[in-house]
Amino acid sequence: MPEAPQKFYLTTPIYYVNARPHIGHAYSTIAADVIARRHRLLGDDTFFLTGTDEHGQKVERSAAAAGIPPLQFADQVSATFRALWDRMGITYNDYIRTTELRHTEAVQKLFQLLLDRDKFYLSSYTGQYSIGEEMFVDGPPGTIGPDGKPTETVTEENYFFRLSEYQLPLIDLIESENPESRLLIQPESSRNEVLSFLRGNVAEATDRGEVLELSALGKPYVPGALKDLSISRTSFKWGIPVPGNEKHVIYVWLDALINYLTGIGYGSDNPADQEKFKRYWPADLHLVGKEITRFHCVYWPAVLLAAEIPTPKSVVANGWLLFDDSKMSKSKGNVVRTETILDAFGTEVYKKQFPDSTKKEQDLFAADVLRYFLLREIPFGQDGSFSFDAMITRYNADLANGYGNLVSRTLGLIVQNFSAGDIEGSPRGVARVPPLTDGNDTLAFIYSNNLRAHADTLADLDATENEYTFGSRLQRIFDLIQKVDVFMTEEKPWKLAAQLKASSTTTYLDAAKQTEFEEELRKDVIQLECILYTAAESIRVISALLYPVLPYSTAKVWAQLGLGDIEDAAKNGELKNLKWGGLKPGTKLGPLAPIFPRADKGLAQIMTDMESPTTPPKPEHPKPSKFVDETTTHTSAAPTDPTDPAAAPRTSYLAEAAPGTTVGGSHAVSTERTGTPSHTEAPASGIFANSAAQSNISGTAPDTPQIVIDDFVKIDLRVAQIVVAERIPKADKLLRLEVDLGYEKRQILSGIAEWYTPEELLGKKIVVIANLAPRKMRGFESHGMLLAASHGEDGKPVLATFGEEIALGSRLR
Ligand code: MSP
Repeated sequence: MPEAPQKFYLTTPIYYVNARPHIGHAYSTIAADVIARRHRLLGDDTFFLTGTDEHGQKVERSAAAAGIPPLQFADQVSATFRALWDRMGITYNDYIRTTELRHTEAVQKLFQLLLDRDKFYLSSYTGQYSIGEEMFVDGPPGTIGPDGKPTETVTEENYFFRLSEYQLPLIDLIESENPESRLLIQPESSRNEVLSFLRGNVAEATDRGEVLELSALGKPYVPGALKDLSISRTSFKWGIPVPGNEKHVIYVWLDALINYLTGIGYGSDNPADQEKFKRYWPADLHLVGKEITRFHCVYWPAVLLAAEIPTPKSVVANGWLLFDDSKMSKSKGNVVRTETILDAFGTEVYKKQFPDSTKKEQDLFAADVLRYFLLREIPFGQDGSFSFDAMITRYNADLANGYGNLVSRTLGLIVQNFSAGDIEGSPRGVARVPPLTDGNDTLAFIYSNNLRAHADTLADLDATENEYTFGSRLQRIFDLIQKVDVFMTEEKPWKLAAQLKASSTTTYLDAAKQTEFEEELRKDVIQLECILYTAAESIRVISALLYPVLPYSTAKVWAQLGLGDIEDAAKNGELKNLKWGGLKPGTKLGPLAPIFPRADKGLAQIMTDMESPTTPPKPEHPKPSKFVDETTTHTSAAPTDPTDPAAAPRTSYLAEAAPGTTVGGSHAVSTERTGTPSHTEAPASGIFANSAAQSNISGTAPDTPQIVIDDFVKIDLRVAQIVVAERIPKADKLLRLEVDLGYEKRQILSGIAEWYTPEELLGKKIVVIANLAPRKMRGFESHGMLLAASHGEDGKPVLATFGEEIALGSRLR
């Protein structure tokens, strides 16, 4: 009887919906997808869960800022995440949202169970709460939380979890050496961090002469170091109500962690769901960012222990993607959006090579590039910097020049030499994999044995090695690619083929000589067959190994090798067959086409521009509106943080951006350049599409990218009065203004001196973009921007003013 497949259940963190996805989120999701694909090809019954975390104060506040109900807000951002994963071909089996009914029911069920068991209790608590991280932190009022912002003092009646009871059980669970019953935490640094949190400050306690206790493994810990955990809130509403005491909402982290149970059927009355839960729980792998290991390795297993539900088998933490040396995050604004990479590589590289390709093909190709780069470049578990330049360099070196070149060189030579009847003795038919005849005496055979040995070692390693060391695994596969490349270069099969072709017309009158000649010829044919078979078989092994990381590209190679659909091969177990000789001689090759067209270095600039809110113009574009300071024109007050939900969704950038933006700010900021963005935002929907303020210069409707209400809401437009206006020496176009916003006075430098005298500005009530970050210019700080329309040929700025009485500081909405 065939063995029943093993199950493998893996999860990503569920992502907060207060921010749009960036490549930091994509990094974790990609790693999970690679692992899921690998387990599927190994034959495991794999379940891969991802989704979004939608409750909590942070989301409630973001929704309030956007002026819409939290659920509507969450619907939209969650859909953005899901749409991105779909664009990238992520093979999740279910997508859980914590606002779904199935989840609410599961959370309330578990909560009730733990209340009934007296694991949860009600008590009053005053503490410092970090809104950004949604957690209480130790320290006095005003403590700086883990998100770098001051905490808020919160006094509440809370439900508490008796977490303190689980200090020793958790230590034992993590320290255990029994692979069946332990919680494995990787990398080691995360494991140590969790253990030292659980053990408490052993050194200090020893100094104080306290009595320590010992874990099962004989390691000391400070009893009582683990405190009970607050698990409900009453100061806001956006969460799952505590059953029977609805003024409390359940702590967002407890709510979120339970998704791992809900996603496979926990809490459902449906027998199929119950079966599913039985089948897949406990999770084999929770893949998480390193900053949330404590939640997954302390709170989560403790809750499960309390509920007598088995604990997960492993938690593996990825490091952070850094940009400009710090963690990419929405609050810092230093993020790169995955869409930028998909658009740029998809269109500038793939579409250029394949003009008729579909958007889906372009996306999947580009997703492969990102998958490869992130997993190859950054040792998994460690932090790593992201840069467009590094990505392009690696793409060209490894994929275009390495793997892609080897495939096209090898298969091209097979097509040239082993198509119907080209060479005497070769298999008949159209471009078939050459046979492998015994030819021990040829050099090519010695080399091919070398490669075979290398491929075998790789197959062994693949079976035994830690599967999360993506970088070194990839490196070893690429070592084989390089070896095959060297083999080809040294064996020069093209030279051999040319010689064979040249001599195939030769005939000798002398029969003995002719026989001798034909024998020599035959040896050469065998040698050529051997070289090309060896290279083609190496490509098969390499492609099978690379498939989880490069599913789209290896599918193309697989088809070119004549092996059919790689997804079928993955299902049939063909991809785990890494044994040498799996490629059958005589296999008919598929049509050849480039796999990895070269990427131009200039692509880095294109991507940088796409990420920048102030993109230089495409030269052919007519000049847009003119909101000049002395060196610059500012055309857009778009949000600068592209991951903020307020930023418009960017799904495609290459359509020409239209000129005609006619409302802008006037502000002395020297980095802004004249022009329209080089990308066009895609039409948006839902909360991102409720309104788009546009005006019109020529009577024809402007063809500007649509924005959405959320974009608009992020811009804080306020009524202000100009109370001081003066020229700035040696700056003909600049005026220094002081404006009264009602709640504060500001200095703004504005490039309107050509059109307005200081006198005529005094007392004017105008509109200011109040939340623009301050900038320095000519030694002056400029904090804000005036709103003006662009009028006439020369784009004269006409300040927006009011025809009615209006209080200073009033917000424009
Ligand atoms: N909602 C919680 C997780 C709950 S899981 C029960 C949360 N969400 S998050 O959106 O802030 O981030 C989740 C994860 O996204 C991180 O743990 C990490 O896996 C990934 N990353 C977000 N930014 C990242 C980087 N800059 N670099 C690497 N991974 C990043 O925390």
